[in-house]
Amino acid sequence: MGSANLNRTTSSHISRRNLSFSGPRVSVHRKVWGSLSAYTVATAFFLISSILALGCVLYLSLFRTSIHRGVSPYELIGRTHGCDVFEGSWIPDSSYPLYNSSTCPFAERGFNCLANGRRDTEYLKWRWKPRQCHVPRFDVNQTLESLRGKRVVFVGDSMSRTQWESFICMLMTGVREPKSVYEVKGNNISKRIRFLGVRFHSFNFTVEFFRSVFLVQQGLPPRHGPKRIQSTLKLDKLDDISKKWVDSDVLVFNSGHWWNPGKLFDSGCYFQVGGSLKLGMPITAAFKMAMETWASWVETMVDTDRTHIFFRTFEPSHWSGLNQKVCELTKQPVTEATGEDRSEFVGIITDVVARMRAPVTILNVTSMGAVRSDAHIGPWGDLRPLVDCSHWCLPGVPDAWNELIFHLLANPGIPRPSIRR
Ligand SMILES: *[C@@H]1O[C@H](CO)[C@@H](O)[C@H](O)[C@H]1NC(C)=O
Ligand SMILES: *[C@@H]1O[C@H](CO)[C@@H](O)[C@H](O)[C@H]1NC(C)=O
Ligand SMILES: *[C@@H]1O[C@H](CO)[C@@H](O)[C@H](O)[C@H]1NC(C)=O
Ligand SMILES: *[C@@H]1O[C@H](CO)[C@@H](O)[C@H](O)[C@H]1NC(C)=O
Ligand SMILES: *[C@@H]1O[C@H](CO)[C@@H](O)[C@H](O)[C@H]1NC(C)=O
Repeated sequence: MGSANLNRTTSSHISRRNLSFSGPRVSVHRKVWGSLSAYTVATAFFLISSILALGCVLYLSLFRTSIHRGVSPYELIGRTHGCDVFEGSWIPDSSYPLYNSSTCPFAERGFNCLANGRRDTEYLKWRWKPRQCHVPRFDVNQTLESLRGKRVVFVGDSMSRTQWESFICMLMTGVREPKSVYEVKGNNISKRIRFLGVRFHSFNFTVEFFRSVFLVQQGLPPRHGPKRIQSTLKLDKLDDISKKWVDSDVLVFNSGHWWNPGKLFDSGCYFQVGGSLKLGMPITAAFKMAMETWASWVETMVDTDRTHIFFRTFEPSHWSGLNQKVCELTKQPVTEATGEDRSEFVGIITDVVARMRAPVTILNVTSMGAVRSDAHIGPWGDLRPLVDCSHWCLPGVPDAWNELIFHLLANPGIPRPSIRR
């Protein structure tokens, strides 16, 4: 990772030097202009133009190379040695699942479908197989050792909390003394709490979760605004708890599921930029602005030589029926991608990340989930009779995202994409 950054700096340094190289020639040209014969002037002009043109060509080629290196999204995401680990399929594997939620104190009851009455168990027995490469089976001992002394932070909505719980439960299977793993403030896992931190005492690391569903700051509206406005999202300001995310080794973000009219406008929440309300701003434009705010926060606040940053893309839900209110699960993954995937959000995140100088790995989980209409909570949550075709059962799909995270962390060639070399 260090060398990738070093090389990046070197190449921008070279292009800047190249620019300033052509600068002085221009001023020499101006100074001598008055005192020379027409022939000399013409010759000098020709020479100087040639030098300038050459400089331009050199500059452009370097500049374009660095653009190409920094920006092409499809080349840099989650690849090792040319393999995109997010492109693949689910294959049956009877050695799964990786843990039992009923024996993991950090899996909340609402995600433990088996404990809530689900009878079919085939949905637990699928492994994600990247098409072009092999991801070794999750090795808990090795992973626990590799996290020693580290701080892992998840930020986002309830989907992020599921992934955080999955991450902890996978690791718990290698811990001899379950009591040596505890929530730092003694809290039980609950839906509304803003911060949860689980410490693996014998391995000296913590895995934390910060609830921040929009990533940007939500607050009181400006005074004298229309009555219907109860709160605003300040699209140009990152959430004020963001200062707690900085000092970490792994940062995993998500956002998207709350960016809909129901969670926003219907709840009296509108957009704001600086001091002004942006009442007509479309949700996708607001999401884009928020992601840009997040990106510049990463670039100014996070030490990316230390912190490995992931951004997880939208997870498809599988509602059906006239009003998208019916949740009928399948027993097996389906063969064709289905579900609501909000692909415009995936596109926005990809574009924003592609334009960043800081290395960020996109956890491109959208198509992984699109076929898993068997793996949602359905009627087996803790809010009966409500059904849930958005969240996932644990064990389940989020375990596969974490397997990929562990794999990407253990193979530094992947997380700091090779295109930056
Ligand atoms: C995400 O994965 C899908 C399926 O492999 C692929 O079509 C898409 O291009 C990927 N997106 C990015 C940004 O890598
Ligand atoms: C999970 O653990 C519980 C409690 O020990 C046990 O009753 C249950 O059978 C286990 N489930 C599986 C699938 O092993
Ligand atoms: C993992 O470590 C434990 C001791 O902490 C050991 O008993 C077990 O065999 C190890 N497992 C593997 C797969 O190496
Ligand atoms: C625990 O990890 C921290 C770094 O996060 C390190 O400074 C400290 O020395 C470690 N403690 C032990 C007992 O290894
Ligand atoms: C956590 O839950 C347990 C059992 O449900 C309860 O005894 C304990 O008081 C709870 N702790 C907190 C901090 O709420």
